[in-house]
Amino acid sequence: MRLDKFLAEVGLGSRKEVKQLIKKGQISVNQQIEKSDKKQVEPEKDQIAFQGETLHYQEFYYYLLHKPAGVVSATEDSRDRTVLDLFTPADYRSDLFPVGRLDKDTEGLLLITNDGKLAHELLSPKKHVEKEYFAKVAGVMTVEDQQRFVEGILLDGEKTLPAELLIDETTADSSEVRIILHEGKFHQVKRMVKACGKEVTYLKRIRMGSLELPSELVKGNYRVVTAEEIASLKG
Ligand code: URA
Repeated sequence: MRLDKFLAEVGLGSRKEVKQLIKKGQISVNQQIEKSDKKQVEPEKDQIAFQGETLHYQEFYYYLLHKPAGVVSATEDSRDRTVLDLFTPADYRSDLFPVGRLDKDTEGLLLITNDGKLAHELLSPKKHVEKEYFAKVAGVMTVEDQQRFVEGILLDGEKTLPAELLIDETTADSSEVRIILHEGKFHQVKRMVKACGKEVTYLKRIRMGSLELPSELVKGNYRVVTAEEIASLKG
């Protein structure tokens, strides 16, 4: 692999930016300053460093983000802050993207990765990966609503896959529920609740497959997803 490609892939900057770093003599290969961006390197074998610090090659990155309300699940947006704006410059890479979308006002677990294959697997309705949400609802969710969730609800002429509605608490005019879906249609939770004649006032995703939102992870923060967690997510 070419040295400039390696440096761009470890996230040091764009191809153009890393060429500048090489020119300035800030990159060494096996303890020797290297000034040619065309230098061929072997990522597994050569020791490549930026300002004396060894760079480690990694193909895929996985982060679990606690999305706050007010940011959009996109990689770029001309108006709003995106989930990638929450990343530090050290962790940011231009190939990272969120796995699926949460609405701007929805909080909770969002997986951010550059692994397109895993994202596809997790989002495919055929794979039935569970997504669990906690919702506050204006109105009282009932046993009849639970039955409708199981049977499937027509949204724009398409029936939802069987879903679970767990009623945690109700007052005279509100409810706290958990909803487990096996797919991710546009505004699905809000629309399913609306189809029951009630309204979601707060929504948070708390689980995706085996990956749970850690209670200690502060809103707006993220952490690396471990290799074990990725393995169990893949099933
Ligand atoms: N369902 C919704 O309505 N909104 C979300 O953000 C996620 C699921």
